[in-house]
Amino acid sequence: MVLELLKKRQLLTTDDATLTPLTGGVSCEIYLVEDGDRRFVVKRALSKLKVKQDWFANTNRNRYEQQYLSYVGALFPQWVPKVLAAFPKDEFFTMEFLPSEYRDWKKRLLAGERKVETAATIGKALGVIHRVSWHDLGTMRQFDSDENFEELRLSPYFISLVPLYPQLRTQIEQLCQRIRSNKHCLVHGDFSPKNILVAEQGIKIVDCEVAWYGDPCFDIAFTLHHLLLKLCHLGDSVLAEMADAFYSSYQQELGEGPMAAIEPQHLMELTLFMMLARLDGKSPVEYLSDSEKNEIRERVMIALANVPNSLDALIQGVSGYEYSTS
Ligand SMILES: Nc1ncnc2c1ncn2[C@@H]1O[C@H](COP(=O)(O)OP(=O)(O)O)[C@@H](O)[C@H]1O
Ligand SMILES: [Mg+2]
Repeated sequence: MVLELLKKRQLLTTDDATLTPLTGGVSCEIYLVEDGDRRFVVKRALSKLKVKQDWFANTNRNRYEQQYLSYVGALFPQWVPKVLAAFPKDEFFTMEFLPSEYRDWKKRLLAGERKVETAATIGKALGVIHRVSWHDLGTMRQFDSDENFEELRLSPYFISLVPLYPQLRTQIEQLCQRIRSNKHCLVHGDFSPKNILVAEQGIKIVDCEVAWYGDPCFDIAFTLHHLLLKLCHLGDSVLAEMADAFYSSYQQELGEGPMAAIEPQHLMELTLFMMLARLDGKSPVEYLSDSEKNEIRERVMIALANVPNSLDALIQGVSGYEYSTS
């Protein structure tokens, strides 16, 4: 099917081009295309996501991914793979194939490579992307993906927790309301270590299907909750330093004016609910044992009853690790 599409669009120069699936994804078809001596990547969205529970989504998200890669690529080509050909109507696109030294940050973290500078570089890139799109009407119109965001993020991550935690219903609904109303900048929507490819020469951000104009805290919390879950799992305190470096360089890049719109308590609450969602929601983390999940759940529930208003306090609450940035 994908080969047919490529042929139809005259994107192949030989008759014996091959497709090799690229691992990792649950929401798309993504292949390395080898066509003679040319190599590139083709990506197309799937309507049913490959997770245990049924989860359907609008394939138009592939268009938002094309737009995000093009938007960021035009300003900061160093941070995203270059889009080669984009077909918004057919909902697929091709992009450059990144060399193998680009390895995803999640693999690096789990393999023991935990560099504070990498976290700072990633926080900086996120801060810059948020800053350049901050309160920009044209960007807001371009990324009018509220429905997708509801379907791919608010519903599966948060609303689906309500039946499991009926006592948290009001808190969850208020959190979602705040997320919906914080319309500030271009949000990646899946800013997790597995979607940030890291090499000596820098980083590349991929998998931008959930791109949306909205709440910057969503992206910050997405990275933070992954780092904190890994901190709980691995007990390596450098992960706390990385979380801090990520957020500090983010703040520095975003700048004082926009930072005033970021409410620390909202950010910490969002991070806590994401942690809970990855324990009990539709897309659970695969590396935690049941006993680790129970312990983390207990700490998260305590923190949610009295939401911390700083990253230090959050780190201490969820990991027991006493961390101070001062
Ligand atoms: N342009 C690229 N070059 C090389 N590898 C890539 C490229 N884009 C994605 N990948 C690899 O493929 C994986 C899956 O792609 P991704 O866009 O994240 O899809 P999914 O939505 O299915 O997670 C990524 O984690 C990355 O390892
Ligand atoms: Mg991915």
